Amino acid sequence: MFCRDDARLIFEVVVEMPLLQPERFVALGIDPPKGVLLYGPPGTGKTLTARAVANRTDACFICVIGSELVQRYVGEGARMVRELFQLARTKKACILFIDEVDAIGGTRGGDEGNSDSEVQRTMLEIVNQLDGFDSRGNVKVLMATNRPDTLDPALLRPGRLDRKIEFGLPDLEGRTHIFKIHAKTMAIDRDVRFELLARLCPNTTGAECRSVCTEAGMYAIRARRKSISEKDLIDAINKVIKGYSKFSATPKYMVYN
Ligand SMILES: Nc1ncnc2c1ncn2[C@@H]1O[C@H](COP(=O)(O)OP(=O)(O)O)[C@@H](O)[C@H]1O
Ligand SMILES: [Mg+2]
Repeated sequence: MFCRDDARLIFEVVVEMPLLQPERFVALGIDPPKGVLLYGPPGTGKTLTARAVANRTDACFICVIGSELVQRYVGEGARMVRELFQLARTKKACILFIDEVDAIGGTRGGDEGNSDSEVQRTMLEIVNQLDGFDSRGNVKVLMATNRPDTLDPALLRPGRLDRKIEFGLPDLEGRTHIFKIHAKTMAIDRDVRFELLARLCPNTTGAECRSVCTEAGMYAIRARRKSISEKDLIDAINKVIKGYSKFSATPKYMVYN
C-alpha cells in the first residue's frame, strides 16, 4: 500500500508506539492521543490504511461500519457501541476502527427524520466511551469519513480524536507507486512504463488506479494473452477514466488519443 510519509509517522507515534511501548509515554509523563480520524474523498485508501496499521502491530482489530450502528430500535446503537468498547478493553492491545463514521457522526440537530435522535444517542455513547478510557491503555480508536465537514465537532475535541490525517488524491509519484503495487500481483509485461500510466491519469484516486489494472486484465483475457501489456493499461485508462467522467458532474481531463 502507498501511504504518505507524514501519515505513516503519525500512525507510528499515535497508534503503534502507545500499543507496543506504552512505557515510553509513561517515562515522559505524557498521554498519547486516544485516536485518529482519517478523512478524504472515497477511494483514497482510508480503509486500506487502517487495516494495514492493524497488520503491522499484531493488535486485535475490531472493525465496524458506521451504518451498522444505526439500528431500528431505541438504544440499540448505543448498546452496540458500549459492547464494542468493552470487548476492545478485554484485549491485550486493540484497534477499534469505525469506518464511514459520517452515518452516525453528523452534526447534531440535522434534519433527518425520526431516527435522528437515535443516531445522536449512538454518537453520544461513542463520545462517552472515548472519554471513559485511559489514553495510555490498550485501546486505540480509528475512525474514517469521506465527509469531515459534517462530523460532530464534539468528536474532535482535544482528548478524543484529536489527531487527523487527510487522505488526498495521490500525486504523480504516488500514482506511479500505486500502479506498481497492483502490478506486483498481476502477470504484466516487463516493459510497462508505470510513470507514463500515472501521467495519463491525473486527478485519479488509488481505487481508480486499481480499476484500471483490473480492466487491463480483462482486455488481456479477451485477447487470450497470458500477460497484460502497456497498451491494455492505456486502453483501460481511456475506458475507466472516460467512464467516470461520463457519470460525474465535474468532468475529468481527457487522457489519451
Ligand atoms: N494509497 C493506496 N495504495 C494502494 N492502493 C490503494 C490506495 N488507495 C486506494 N487503493 C486501492 O483502492 C481500494 C479502495 O480503497 P479504500 O481504502 O477502500 O478507500 P476509502 O476507504 O478511502 O474509500 C483499495 O482496496 C486499494 O486497492
Ligand atoms: Mg472506506
